[in-house]
Amino acid sequence: MTTIRPLPHIEKTKPYVPGGKLHGAAGPVIMLASNENPFGPSPKAITAMRDEAERVHIYPDPDYGALRKAIADAKGIADISRLAVSAGSDEIIHLLTQAYAGPGDEILFTEHAFSMYNVSALGHGATPVVVPETDFTAGANALLGGVTERTRILFLANPNNPTGTMMSVEDLKRLQDSLPPYVILALDGAYAEYVSEAYEAELRDLVDRRSNTVMIRTFSKIYGLAALRLGWGYFPADIAETFQRIRPPFNINAFAVAAGAAAIADTDFIAASREHNAKWRAIYIERLNAMGLPTPASSANFVIPDFGSEVRAKGAHAFLKERNVLVRAIGGYGLPTRLRITIGTADDNERVLELLAEFTATR
Ligand SMILES: Cc1ncc(COP(=O)(O)O)c(C=O)c1O
Repeated sequence: MTTIRPLPHIEKTKPYVPGGKLHGAAGPVIMLASNENPFGPSPKAITAMRDEAERVHIYPDPDYGALRKAIADAKGIADISRLAVSAGSDEIIHLLTQAYAGPGDEILFTEHAFSMYNVSALGHGATPVVVPETDFTAGANALLGGVTERTRILFLANPNNPTGTMMSVEDLKRLQDSLPPYVILALDGAYAEYVSEAYEAELRDLVDRRSNTVMIRTFSKIYGLAALRLGWGYFPADIAETFQRIRPPFNINAFAVAAGAAAIADTDFIAASREHNAKWRAIYIERLNAMGLPTPASSANFVIPDFGSEVRAKGAHAFLKERNVLVRAIGGYGLPTRLRITIGTADDNERVLELLAEFTATR
């Protein structure tokens, strides 16, 4: 064992806890722990990857111009120089933190925020500052109350993971208007496609509205490309320029480039995924509430029923796991009595709801 020590702030960092896998399970497995698209990738993305296989001896385009153009076309972004791609949106979170916050600086987010914000703050020696939510929802006043002269980045996923709740665009504007200009407002739209195209456009317009707002997006959710590790960001010009300076060269592989461009243009696939999700999200919420598992409204592709106690939530998690269904325990997010269930295919959802009805009938 080496006696060489990492930097003190790295020693304090704990790794991100992923959704997990069902190793060695016999029979079909239902994975509903990581908010992936249950229909897989768009068939057009699969074809694009097959075509790409012949060319992988050549480095990808270092500027990723074709992919960035495809994103800009799909999302109505006029200036592609302000758009950057990344190895998963996690990489944008890390690179923004690396560029703008270090020891002595603060990174602000809310109590049930996506955990990578905390991991990234600690990993760069910055201090995480956590403000409370009301009814599982971030609020402009609470966030503004957490701002100090040391705040450098405010991360806000809207809709949020794992709560599924969101702030209104009006409140986001109020937050934007009152935030000091030295704080970057990083709006993470990982689940924005599940809300509506109109909301996606509003998020984009928020970036254009102020010089301190950025938007973080992912291909891992509705586009069904989680394993390719592809994300993108839309920034003010100076932040885009900084981002390009520290982005590792060739950070995106050629399969991700090809699949991403095809997936973002497949509007039928995206619309069908959004519709299926909205339909089943409503069914889940109604049936879970009827079972005595209070489940708040969600704007994303998951729901968080309350089992009333940590012991019962753990029991339900184990009960499902023994039957080859993996959902997410969210005790680490300060929600120990709840589980997070990703909306699956119709068959997956029926199975989960039947199993939970069986569980709640006896336990
Ligand atoms: C809110 C939010 N942001 C970012 C990510 C990271 O996504 P990826 O790195 O796969 O693009 C996730 C993944 O769960 C998420 O929920």
